[in-house]
Amino acid sequence: MLNTLRIITIFPKLFDSFSNIGVVGKAIQANKVSFSVQDLRNFGIGKHMSVDDTQYGGGPGMVMRPEPFYDAVKFLKDKHNEKPYIISTSPKGNILDSKKIKQLSKKKCIYILCGRYEGVDQRVQELIVDEEISVGNYILSGGEIPAMTIADSLIRLIPNVLGSSESTLNETFSEHIFGKNKEPVYTKPRIFKGLSVPKVLLQGDHKKIEDWRKKMRK
Ligand SMILES: C[S@@+](CC[C@H](N)C(=O)[O-])C[C@H]1O[C@@H](n2cnc3c(N)ncnc32)[C@H](O)[C@@H]1O
Repeated sequence: MLNTLRIITIFPKLFDSFSNIGVVGKAIQANKVSFSVQDLRNFGIGKHMSVDDTQYGGGPGMVMRPEPFYDAVKFLKDKHNEKPYIISTSPKGNILDSKKIKQLSKKKCIYILCGRYEGVDQRVQELIVDEEISVGNYILSGGEIPAMTIADSLIRLIPNVLGSSESTLNETFSEHIFGKNKEPVYTKPRIFKGLSVPKVLLQGDHKKIEDWRKKMRK
């Protein structure tokens, strides 16, 4: 079961709010998961700590050099004495879905590499990456938002991270409603802009409520 997540990025500040707020923030504060963000720039090359360079063969845009990722991963592995499963974020990777998240949640320790620019030198994938993951068939400007998506969906699956164990059982993509959408949910007020909460939810008949919920899972 997952207990360690480390992110490697040139923009560690992007993770400040992510790791301090909400379900993820609470899980980290309660030591349910060990989470850290490593600045790739510390492993940059030369006096400018450079992490990218022009493409061999020509072409627009810069490519992330292999040495900083390689050295950052080696540094973290040696420092923490761990054997991580290494994910690289990439639009051509395996698509992230609930099945993939479930598989990944069985790994003990995961490192996520965040690409930028035209992507990461292929030798990083060949030498150190176990799996490339895509969050969908579109292009983002960097791997940080995909890394947050992966991390968030993994952290909320760690036992006792969510307030009520019910919360992961009855969600869209949960096993017993898989393939169907979760029923709509309502809170106060009873009537909003002329739209009323379905009567069945107001009458306290739990059998009828469960039947209605089943019917609404389409
Ligand atoms: C601008 S993108 C590079 C796109 C690349 N030139 C291409 O056409 O496939 C820069 C980085 O953002 C991340 N990225 C962008 N879209 C992504 C997606 N859909 N899923 C996962 N990572 C993505 C990857 O780390 C990628 O290396």
